[in-house]
Amino acid sequence: MRCLSIFLIAASLGLLSSAEPFRSPYNIHEKRTCIPQGWSLTRRCNPISSIPLRFALKQKNIEEIGNYLYDMSHPNSPNYGKHWTAGDVARTFAPTDETVGVVRSWLITSGIGEERIALGRAKAWIQVNVTVEEAEELMNTEYNVYTHLSGKVHVACEVYYLPEHVQPHVDFITPSVHFDAKLTRRSSGESASSARGIGRLGFVSDLETAGAVSSIHGLEHCDTSITPICLRTLYDLFYNPVATDKNSFGIVEYTPNTYVQSDLQMFARNFSTDLIGKEPYLVSIDGGYAPTTNGTIELDIESDLDLEYGMSLVTGNQTVTLYQVGDAVNGASMNNFLDAIDGSYCTLDGGDDPLQDIVYPDILPGGYMGPEACGTVEPTYVISTSYSYNEADLGPFYAERQCAEYAKLGLMGITVLYSSGDNGVAGNSDLCLISNHTQSHDGYIFNPTFPGTCPYVTSVGATMVKPNATVFDPEVAMMGRIYSGGGFSNYFGMPEYQKKAVDHYLTKYRPDYPSTIWNSTGMSRGYPDISANGANYVVALDGGFRHISGTSCSSPVIGAILTMINDARLAIGKGPIGFVNPTIYSPEFADAFNDITEGNNPGCGTAGYNATDGWDPLTGLGTPKFPKLLALWLLLP
Ligand SMILES: *[C@@H]1O[C@H](CO)[C@@H](O)[C@H](O)[C@H]1NC(C)=O
Ligand SMILES: *[C@@H]1O[C@H](CO)[C@@H](O)[C@H](O)[C@H]1NC(C)=O
Ligand SMILES: *[C@@H]1O[C@H](CO)[C@@H](O)[C@H](O)[C@H]1NC(C)=O
Ligand SMILES: *[C@@H]1O[C@H](CO)[C@@H](O)[C@H](O)[C@H]1NC(C)=O
Ligand SMILES: *[C@@H]1O[C@H](CO)[C@@H](O)[C@H](O)[C@H]1NC(C)=O
Ligand SMILES: *[C@@H]1O[C@H](CO)[C@@H](O)[C@H](O)[C@H]1NC(C)=O
Ligand SMILES: *[C@@H]1O[C@H](CO)[C@@H](O)[C@H](O)[C@H]1NC(C)=O
Ligand SMILES: *[C@@H]1O[C@H](CO)[C@@H](O)[C@H](O)[C@H]1NC(C)=O
Repeated sequence: MRCLSIFLIAASLGLLSSAEPFRSPYNIHEKRTCIPQGWSLTRRCNPISSIPLRFALKQKNIEEIGNYLYDMSHPNSPNYGKHWTAGDVARTFAPTDETVGVVRSWLITSGIGEERIALGRAKAWIQVNVTVEEAEELMNTEYNVYTHLSGKVHVACEVYYLPEHVQPHVDFITPSVHFDAKLTRRSSGESASSARGIGRLGFVSDLETAGAVSSIHGLEHCDTSITPICLRTLYDLFYNPVATDKNSFGIVEYTPNTYVQSDLQMFARNFSTDLIGKEPYLVSIDGGYAPTTNGTIELDIESDLDLEYGMSLVTGNQTVTLYQVGDAVNGASMNNFLDAIDGSYCTLDGGDDPLQDIVYPDILPGGYMGPEACGTVEPTYVISTSYSYNEADLGPFYAERQCAEYAKLGLMGITVLYSSGDNGVAGNSDLCLISNHTQSHDGYIFNPTFPGTCPYVTSVGATMVKPNATVFDPEVAMMGRIYSGGGFSNYFGMPEYQKKAVDHYLTKYRPDYPSTIWNSTGMSRGYPDISANGANYVVALDGGFRHISGTSCSSPVIGAILTMINDARLAIGKGPIGFVNPTIYSPEFADAFNDITEGNNPGCGTAGYNATDGWDPLTGLGTPKFPKLLALWLLLP
């Protein structure tokens, strides 16, 4: 009986397909496990309303991107340092004609008129305006309207299916299961950037006045007040750049976070006189403005911190480029920045999700009416960003697409740094996960931060000078005011370059937590990669000196150090160091870091991980020894 019925079904299917256009079976393509906090399902969508469906096409060779990058970034590779041009990158990864063809003909045979189908310039996206009814038919799904507590509405589905023969050619479709909806600043009561899930990592609530700055010069008080001379001494960073016209250090800020020039100057007069009269070189992206005089401590803290220390450590002779992204009304997402520096990543051609990323011109009152920046901005060799998401804020496909873009920047010789987060094993806002993968303040599952978990980014954790110790004593993991973000990704597999280091940790110091609260597979990306002091920075902020702690402090320090290494290489006609991870994890570089072996990073109701000998998931490989790194990198081609 069973055989017969199977035979009958197969036979009738065969009959059907000879009479109708070929239809391969449908498989689940993406499925959401939960509705994010604050949202609830209101109703089914009106079947005749229109939605802009966008198909992110599978890029060619994309599964090889890690290998290409490794090949030019591993110090033992004959191709070390042979970076690609933007054209090489675009050509290598543009979707194939077959991919475009398969998706187009599926749409056409499904009844979508050819004239309605638009292909992006770099062939990476197909766009078509359809009715909800058409979309539901195409994707075998149901579209719903969801409403946020704030009143904001969002269109999404729970799951969607694609024909088996189409699946390999599509990364994802928007709008669909993704819930990265834009919330406006006013409706959520949060700053525009944090409403978008980008957490600023300065530890604001701990802000205390730093007292009489005259008493904190020198090295005596580095355990309680960090100033540039403390950092220079900790990492032996005494270097005068000489190839300054060939180089710049890039720092990214998301509006409405902006710096205050009088703060930079007050800092300069007290701690870095070579910066007197200096300001960063402003590159405005999508309406970004700076400096400001109308900010607040909350809005000025991140930019003031990043620029005061970033500029001081590369000296007044080296320009720092400030990428100020987004207008005052809507702010921006990380993809808006990536669009600006890579033309092949822009709207229609790249990783943007119109529901997550800000679309310019911004038609809201006071919004930036200019065109969206698209490949119009020159990237610097080193780019430091002290903002982050939680992985769980983003869908895995969206995160993967953005992560691949970081790999492309690496292929072009750019070093991308992100701070690792300030909440130990918890995510931004101290959120942890619950069993259905929702983020919650009652969560107990570790919640990794993104982009730090992207294997093509260098993630920077935080350390501190032990209380009552000096800069000549070993530092410990940052503890107390904030805890260094670290752990294991739930989205990204372990890259080859860190396998040995992470295996050592997991074998020798395997955490005894149940596997339900951390990614214990031993196959996932561990972060951070490296660390630097992040405790009690003395920052000129809105006319007074304050203490600020966080991995926000650490990333610009590493950025400045790597910029100085690039300077030395550029000065002798060598190229920039590009993606550094395969190099810093290589045995040749083992002596170039101060191993951090004390401290932990609590969160989610646990004590977190421990700092150990070798790599660990809170301080990575440790803090840099600038002279050793410089000497080693000068030896490389
Ligand atoms: C996840 O679990 C929490 C707590 O049980 C519940 O409130 C929430 O609705 C769940 N979310 C989804 C989408 O299942
Ligand atoms: C879809 O509709 C929008 C808004 O009407 C329009 O700007 C866009 O060009 C349309 N796209 C296509 C592919 O027809
Ligand atoms: C800046 O450059 C000038 C001229 O080359 C040099 O005299 C000075 O020492 C440099 N300053 C720093 C801090 O490198
Ligand atoms: C250092 O900062 C203080 C503010 O705390 C300011 O009054 C003073 O003028 C600054 N020092 C110099 C040399 O400018
Ligand atoms: C602050 O000033 C900038 C220009 O300097 C302006 O674009 C912005 O809208 C102002 N913000 C507020 C809140 O007034
Ligand atoms: C640091 O030294 C001071 C003064 O000697 C002492 O009161 C304090 O307890 C010490 N703190 C720690 C953490 O050892
Ligand atoms: C652990 O990480 C791997 C690779 O990153 C991933 O495939 C897996 O789903 C993760 N496990 C959990 C429970 O999230
Ligand atoms: C951290 O070290 C403490 C003290 O040695 C130990 O009890 C604990 O199990 C360790 N935790 C992890 C996650 O390794």
